[in-house]
Amino acid sequence: MIEYDSVTKFFGVGKNAVTANDNVTFEIKQGETAVFLGPSGCGKTTLLRMTNRLESISSGNIRVAEKNIMDVNPQKLRLSMGYVIQQIGLFPNKTIADNVAVVPKMLKWNKEKIKDRTDELLHLVKLDPKIYRDRYPVELSGGQQQRVGVARGLAADPEILLMDEPFGAIDPINRNQIQDEFLKLQAKLKKTIAFVSHDIHEAIKMADKIAIFKDGKLVQFDTPEVILMRPANKFVSDFVGADRALKVLGLLKIRDAINPHPKNIVQAESNAEETLKMMEEQGLKFAIVLKGDKVLGHVTPKLLKYEQGKLKDLAESFPEELGTREPLRDALSAMLLHDVMNFPVMDDDGKFAGTISYKNIQKAILELYADDHDE
Ligand SMILES: Nc1ncnc2c1ncn2[C@@H]1O[C@H](COP(=O)(O)OP(=O)(O)OP(=O)(O)O)[C@@H](O)[C@H]1O
Ligand SMILES: [Mg+2]
Repeated sequence: MIEYDSVTKFFGVGKNAVTANDNVTFEIKQGETAVFLGPSGCGKTTLLRMTNRLESISSGNIRVAEKNIMDVNPQKLRLSMGYVIQQIGLFPNKTIADNVAVVPKMLKWNKEKIKDRTDELLHLVKLDPKIYRDRYPVELSGGQQQRVGVARGLAADPEILLMDEPFGAIDPINRNQIQDEFLKLQAKLKKTIAFVSHDIHEAIKMADKIAIFKDGKLVQFDTPEVILMRPANKFVSDFVGADRALKVLGLLKIRDAINPHPKNIVQAESNAEETLKMMEEQGLKFAIVLKGDKVLGHVTPKLLKYEQGKLKDLAESFPEELGTREPLRDALSAMLLHDVMNFPVMDDDGKFAGTISYKNIQKAILELYADDHDE
């Protein structure tokens, strides 16, 4: 856990003084990723550098695992945190492998262990160790160097990671892949991470919580969903973008909006006539045909009129399958694309889990708004 308690940082004195961080208070819970977000110069890097005492604190306190960092030896503190710096900062005279191994060497790991760990991390950041381990930084592209920087930060398996725009120099396709890999890794390792970014998309993707800064002040600290749907002020809403409701759709999962007990379910063995009657009585324009827990397709009154067979022979199949873990955005996209307003949703085993409609999606979004007024 990292606690920032009224943290203020001045650079310079008198007329030329700059307030890089202004009375910042929030905490990063153990195992969570907090993304520091905000425009250039808002104090993100400075806050990170104070966290491992590369920069002094003007006033306030930072506590790590409930210990005031001023009571911890700075070298020891730094060894306990992985740090990926904004400017990459590889040692030009060391090979890639030696760059990754800097902290393990300081910690006096044995050679074998260091080599295994280095290769493992180079694989992780998609740099084949056979090709890259003995090269020097100048022989790598900027994006490749940055990946070495990430590997170096992870090398000694620290509980805490400070990452300053770690993927900033990597092209969009590779960046997406590395973000995905990193998320998978984090799901297993559950590090406590302070992650600097100025990219709202990256922040939404990587963060458990987002801290948005303006001119050194913390403007809002909350989950990506809440930041998007309930921005604290105009600065935040401008920063997250006018399409913030669409961004939320990429973040919420279908299971967040699913109707687990829909009324418009009919059984494969039912016949057309009685189903039509039932649908007319209940005013259903659309029904989903199930055989056990498998979805066969859908029927409408129009389709059933003048038919006599069983629904299993009449149902029209759905053009797309949706799963509970997919983003709501995909459900909306399927609805728009196929002009179907009600889709069945499958669980991980392909069994029917419920349905999703425009209304369900809108409700899920509005609920995020609504909480605001309850508080
Ligand atoms: N060593 C320093 N001496 C004087 N001023 C500094 C120093 N380091 C940072 N600053 C100032 O403090 C403010 C915050 O800088 P910081 O590097 O933390 O911003 P940032 O949010 O990381 O920006 P970016 O997104 O461009 O990396 C800026 O106004 C910067 O000019
Ligand atoms: Mg910075």
